[in-house]
Parts: sequence; C-alpha cells; structure tokens
Amino acid sequence: MHARASSTSTGHTHTEETLLLEGEILQQRAWRMPDLIVYQHGPEEWWVAPLDEELPLIRLNRMGASLLGAMDGRSTIKTLLDQFGKWVCGPNHETGCWHLERWSLPRYSLCYYGSEPPSGHSVNAKWDLLLQQVRERWPGNTAVESEDQLTDFHRRGIQGHHGHFEIIETTVSHLLREPCEALHGYSYGRLLSKTLRQLGWWNPKPRLIVEVGAGLGYVSRELVAELSPTERRGIDYVFLDLTRPFLTSQVQLAREAGWTAHAVHANAEALPFAEASVDLVIDNENLADMTPTHFTKEELESGQGATPEHQRALDLIRRLRLNLDRPFPDEAIFNFGAIEFLTELWRVLKPGGHALLIEFGIETGWPDPVRLPGHTEYEVQFSHLRHAARWLGFREQYCALPQLLSIRRDTQVLCTGATYAIRRFCEAKGQSFAVRAYTEPELAKSLGETLPKLTGLHYHNVLDPAWFGLWDFKALILEKPGGFRRPAFQESQGFRWYSQR
Ligand SMILES: C[S@@+](CC[C@H](N)C(=O)[O-])C[C@H]1O[C@@H](n2cnc3c(N)ncnc32)[C@H](O)[C@@H]1O
Repeated sequence: MHARASSTSTGHTHTEETLLLEGEILQQRAWRMPDLIVYQHGPEEWWVAPLDEELPLIRLNRMGASLLGAMDGRSTIKTLLDQFGKWVCGPNHETGCWHLERWSLPRYSLCYYGSEPPSGHSVNAKWDLLLQQVRERWPGNTAVESEDQLTDFHRRGIQGHHGHFEIIETTVSHLLREPCEALHGYSYGRLLSKTLRQLGWWNPKPRLIVEVGAGLGYVSRELVAELSPTERRGIDYVFLDLTRPFLTSQVQLAREAGWTAHAVHANAEALPFAEASVDLVIDNENLADMTPTHFTKEELESGQGATPEHQRALDLIRRLRLNLDRPFPDEAIFNFGAIEFLTELWRVLKPGGHALLIEFGIETGWPDPVRLPGHTEYEVQFSHLRHAARWLGFREQYCALPQLLSIRRDTQVLCTGATYAIRRFCEAKGQSFAVRAYTEPELAKSLGETLPKLTGLHYHNVLDPAWFGLWDFKALILEKPGGFRRPAFQESQGFRWYSQR
C-alpha cells in the first residue's frame, strides 16, 4: 500500500491511500465481499457502499458493475486490469484501475485479494481484521486506551444526536426501538415495561425513576406506554447522562410520551442523589462505558497500585474479597467504574428499591476492550459485578437478555451491515431509512419500491451470534431489601382491585 496525492472534485488536494497494482498482487485473485449489497439506481447505474462512512458511495455504470461481477475468485488482478483497467466505470469517470486500486482496502472493504478463497474460518478472520483496521483508522481515533478516555468522549466527543446510534454505536434497544416481530410485536422498552410489571416493580408505584445513560430516550417513551394514566401519575422520571446533547432528546421524547421528566448532567459513578431517595434505576447498555482500571500484573500480585486511583480499586477488590482469575495476565482490565456505580446504587436506592442493569459482558476471565469509532469500551465481567452486588447487600437475579425479553428465537432479521448500506443509499436519494432490526416483511413495508432494486440482502436468526451477539448481553436485576410489604391491591384504570391473602 502507498500514499499518493490526488485531487478531489472540489479541487482540494489530499493524500489517499491506494494499492499499488504490481508484483505479486497481479497474480492474486479477487473475491467480492460475500455480504455486499448492490443498489440499482437506474437502468445504467449501480451503487455500492464502502465500509467507511466518510467515503462517498461508489457509483458504477454497466462496465463497473461487470467489474464487480467479475470478482468471483476466477480472474487474477492482472486479467481484471487488462479487461477493465482503462475503461470508465461510472458516472464520476473513475476508471477500472481506480477501483481496483481501492476496493480491497479496509476503508472500502468491497472485495478481497488473495491467492486462496476467503472461505470457511478464514473469511471471518479476514472480515474481522478488515473491520478492526477500519475502526482503528477512524478519523479522530487517537490512542483511545487511556482510563479517562470514556469520560472525555462522552463529555466532549459526541457532537451529533441521532447519527450516533445509527452509525457509531448501534445498541440493542436502538435496533429494537419500534414494535417488531422479534419481540412479539412490541418494542424493546414496552417489553421491558411488561417485564417490570411481572417482577412487581410497578406496584407499589415508584415515585422517583432514574434512567442512567438513556441515549436518545426511546426506552422511556416505550416504558410509559405500558402504564395507565393513573399508574404514571405522580412519578418523576429523571435522566442522568454524561453527554449533554442526549439529555435534550431524552427529556423531549419522555415529556411527549407523558412522563414528568427532568435531566441531570452527571457521571453515574458519583450519583448526585441523596441517600435512600430513588425507587427505580434503569441502566441500559452503559456499564461498558464506565471507567476501567488497567492493572499491571505487578499491581495485582503486590496489591500496591501505581496511582492513588489504582490503589482505590485494589482496596475495593480486597474489601469485596473478590476472587480474581489467576495466574494474572501481564495487563488486566477491571470494571472499577461499574462497581463504583453499584456502590452508588446501594446508597441512593430506597429500601425495597430496584435496579435493572443491561450490558454485554463475560462471566469468566478478564474483560477485553471493544474498539468503536472514537472510543474504546470494555466488556463487563458479570461475576465480579454480581459478587459486589451481593456483598453490598442486594438481592440479585441474573439472566441473558434473550431470556429476560423472551426474544422470538425463530425470527430472521436483516444483517446489520446490509442495514447500514441501505441507510446510506436512502440518504443519497433523500429518503429516510432507520437502522433497525428488520424481518423481510418489515423491510418490504419500510422500503417499498426500493426493495426490488437491492441485491445481496441476507437474513440471520435473531439469536445467531453473527447477527448482534444478543446472548452476550446480560441483565442484572437488583433489589435492595427492606421495603414495605407490597399492598394487597393492584391499580387498574383508576380502580383498586384487592386480592385476599
Ligand atoms: C451505549 S449508549 C446507550 C444508550 C441507550 N441506553 C441505548 O440503549 O441505546 C451509553 C449511554 O450512557 C451515557 N454514558 C456513558 N458513560 C456514562 C457515565 N459514566 N455516566 C452517565 N452516563 C454515561 C452515554 O452518554 C449514552 O447515553
């Protein structure tokens, strides 16, 4: 690979990496990425989307589409170059050579060049590697492994609003925010609300609910839809978030939906609430954003922290009598912030109060970093969290997210990569398209006449790890003991129904 200066249509010169087509590369063969989505915009125009959102869509004429079609592992790069290299391959006048120099690069990820077909295990390995490289080169992606990068990212890094969850970090609750087949015709938040009802958490009525890290606020909008006007009356719904722009969206959505809602700009690792003042805390896909501690082996072995912060984390581990996995690795990540948050929950929850924490994570070993554009998150070690919760005094229950929500295991949903590509095509056409979990009929309804113009769409079972890894998401269900006995009545439509005990 080499860097070369090129000129854009606006006349600016910038450096762009391209693949030098010479030497061994010429003998390699080319394979189209197996899940490539192609959109036919007109009788003589096709579009494909490079993996990096910063790059413009690739527009192809019939010659360009033939080049794409010829990348089936049979032709060498030399053959493709001879056949298509000098011809104009699209409405923007780029030649076949221009495309061949770029399409296999990580930022494009439209095809793969090699001597062996990218099949079986290796296709995943290569695809993962490509994605990894793209993420690492994301503009503005600095060395994002420091312990305070997450706080910085949320306080300063997030500019946009909606696009953040559509492009940068799509969450489960975002994909499932509208009623969908996978959730028996309900939305994520609505089903969560029903689950809380089954757990008995709406009765007695919580007076103060705090949702931590609510993103755009869809969960709150859907939670309230499950409650009758009498049930929701007198409840204060408070959003606590580190990202100020999100709080605006959260409060707006919640108020429109019927909550009495307020915003608090704060870090969940130090909750600005009085002791025993909160009835219910909901925290959805936020624990992995909390401050990690990066321990060295020496620190873990000696119990001596290299910084006062590390010493606090080590002291906490000692107090909790946390059983850490041995032998210690050279470097280990500990979810310090998430455990501090648990300690804070214990302080602010009323006796009888509840908390529901949902996040992706592991049950054994040490957390791995998960690199996303602009920031790195960390798997949550749930055995550590559960141990800490019990040590604090919580009653805890724990299960995988698909179990909590009884997700319909037979549902087939569109591959998320395809969803991102379709969103880009629609955006270029000035048409709106939301990134969600689509079944075939749901996609047909949403796309209308655009659907038959797309090829390469494929669907996964919703619980297949290849879709979104839903089994990796866990729910920690906490109760602070000591509440009053639940009253022997249920409220419905303004009436109280007493049961006989
Ligand atoms: C991955 S998003 C999840 C958003 C939403 N709950 C969802 O499921 O789509 C993480 C959210 O937590 C917020 N956040 C991250 N770290 C936080 C912290 N330490 N304290 C409070 N909020 C935090 C972010 O601003 C964002 O709203």
